[in-house]
Amino acid sequence: MEKVDVLSGVQPTGQAHIGNYLGAFKTWVELQESRRCFYCIVDLHALTTAPEPAALRQACFEMAKVFLAIGLDPQRSALFVQSQVAEHSELAWILQCLTPMGELSRMTQFKDKSHSQPQNVNVGLFTYPVLQAADILVYRAEGVPVGEDQVQHLELAREIARRFNRTYREVFPEPQPVLSKTPRILGLDGATKMSKSKGNHIPLLAPPEEIEALLRTAVTDPQRQRRSDPGRPWVCNVFSLHQYFSPPEEVAVVDLECRTAARGCVDCKLHLARNMAQQLAPIRERAAALERDPEHVRAVLADGAARARAVAASTMEQVRDAVGLG
Ligand code: TRP
Ligand code: SF4
Repeated sequence: MEKVDVLSGVQPTGQAHIGNYLGAFKTWVELQESRRCFYCIVDLHALTTAPEPAALRQACFEMAKVFLAIGLDPQRSALFVQSQVAEHSELAWILQCLTPMGELSRMTQFKDKSHSQPQNVNVGLFTYPVLQAADILVYRAEGVPVGEDQVQHLELAREIARRFNRTYREVFPEPQPVLSKTPRILGLDGATKMSKSKGNHIPLLAPPEEIEALLRTAVTDPQRQRRSDPGRPWVCNVFSLHQYFSPPEEVAVVDLECRTAARGCVDCKLHLARNMAQQLAPIRERAAALERDPEHVRAVLADGAARARAVAASTMEQVRDAVGLG
């Protein structure tokens, strides 16, 4: 039976940001060097937040462009949109019938989202993690790169796999987390995880002027009130970002000059903005080229979906047989 090594997914948010890039995408690109990887844009999951139809379709295209621009290689990895592989939804239903309500009501993301969209606490929000489990299990994937906020969902996917195997027969391997080396990237508020929905993000494709304008608003060491106060780089998110975008020698200088009040926060941010814009320039250029070649992006997604369907269909034959369907 066919299987893949690595599966991961990202929601089509319309604007990938540097938190996605540092926290997830960089690992995805590394993994494709040695493993057979499938990466999907989870548009069915996005429906739980009731996006406008045209915006959802556009956001999928934008995310696909980003996949290619950051260096995911469609020759090696299957890049596709979740809804184009109907087996995800089919398996999700079967897995839902194996999952107790109680397990889903413990999911912290469900509780958070019910709070953040009280006017739309739909059933999809509740069963979201089962669809996520189906995304992984339909490819019998062994490794799943996830951030710490998704560890609970992956643990549930493991439990669902075990329960399926116990109830019917051994079909699914238990997927293992592939933890990213990068700790969670904080947003411009310096307090919560960077995310588009919180509006504290720096878009991955932002032009240099926008990067600079956004970084000017970044929260730094709150105890540093005057330019003459020494700063504490270890509590400052601007300093954390320097560690990803500035060369080590420059980071050492930032560290020293901050502690000794030899540099001000405005200069420090402009310095970071320059390095960030420079590091991200090749990605932005590739994305701009793809913008002029939408047919190529569509062809990559069509090919990815075809490859994904082949694996998913073979898993579903086993699943239907094991469960007694057909
Ligand atoms: N829920 C994940 C997130 O919000 C996205 C996702 C959907 C996913 N399906 C997945 C991640 C399967 C890993 C594997 O980040
Ligand atoms: Fe942060 Fe830089 Fe200001 Fe120090 S000088 S507090 S590292 S922004």
